[in-house]
Amino acid sequence: MAIAARRIERLEAIVSQLESEGHEALAHRTDVTELSEVEALVAATNKKFGRIDILVNNAGTMPASPIIEGRISDWKRMVDVNVNGVLHGIGAVLPTMLGQGTGHIVMIGSIAGRRPFPGGTVYAATKFAVRALSWGLHLELGAAHGIRVTDIQPGQVATELYEGIPESPFKDAWDKAWEGKRRLKPQDIADTVLFAVSSPAHMVVSELLVRPVDQAT
Ligand SMILES: NC(=O)c1ccc[n+]([C@@H]2O[C@H](COP(=O)([O-])OP(=O)(O)OC[C@H]3O[C@@H](n4cnc5c(N)ncnc54)[C@H](OP(=O)(O)O)[C@@H]3O)[C@@H](O)[C@H]2O)c1
Repeated sequence: MAIAARRIERLEAIVSQLESEGHEALAHRTDVTELSEVEALVAATNKKFGRIDILVNNAGTMPASPIIEGRISDWKRMVDVNVNGVLHGIGAVLPTMLGQGTGHIVMIGSIAGRRPFPGGTVYAATKFAVRALSWGLHLELGAAHGIRVTDIQPGQVATELYEGIPESPFKDAWDKAWEGKRRLKPQDIADTVLFAVSSPAHMVVSELLVRPVDQAT
């Protein structure tokens, strides 16, 4: 398994743990907004493992950004990470998967890719784009090239994503709405990915909406 993000020290700690459990793993410092860095990740993965069976396009950012506040740099950042980053992953891995005649691309979309929420209009737009890409990729790469594509659409998951929301009445209201409620755990989404990629070769799990029982939206 190869894992990639910008904070290499976190990745290296995970790789050490995986290796101590007997797995082979690679940590690669990658900013998904830079195509050259994603291409370098793919090259390093091919060098170590000789093939790439699964790409999980996971990196994303959500600095909730009510339109009325006009934080255009936040809007552009979301497009850059959540859409361009995903495109870089697809473009970089495609030659390998086409050469293999098989592969599975997993997108981490969002429930927001089905339904925008106030304060998350641009974020939702990026996740609608991920959903459209997933659908289109299936049409272009499925039957013709043996590449499967899954769009997993989580609801609320307890992660660091929400730390990107600046202190504001919006954030206070969000935190209050979730007080005492159960969110999903990152492991729930990892298990969902595993379910999707474990399906038999003739089948593709195209979309999965996964949300906490306590999520009333
Ligand atoms: N948490 C939720 O409720 C929820 C719900 C629906 C969908 N999602 C989606 O789930 C995915 C994962 O988010 P999360 O909740 O796990 O958030 P998170 O805890 O903030 O994790 C985001 C991950 O993306 C990486 N990342 C961010 N920008 C990057 C960049 N430019 N290049 C490379 N890596 C980058 C981060 O690592 P570095 O900072 O070290 O680069 C981190 O590993 C996202 O696509 C998000 O939109 C989350």
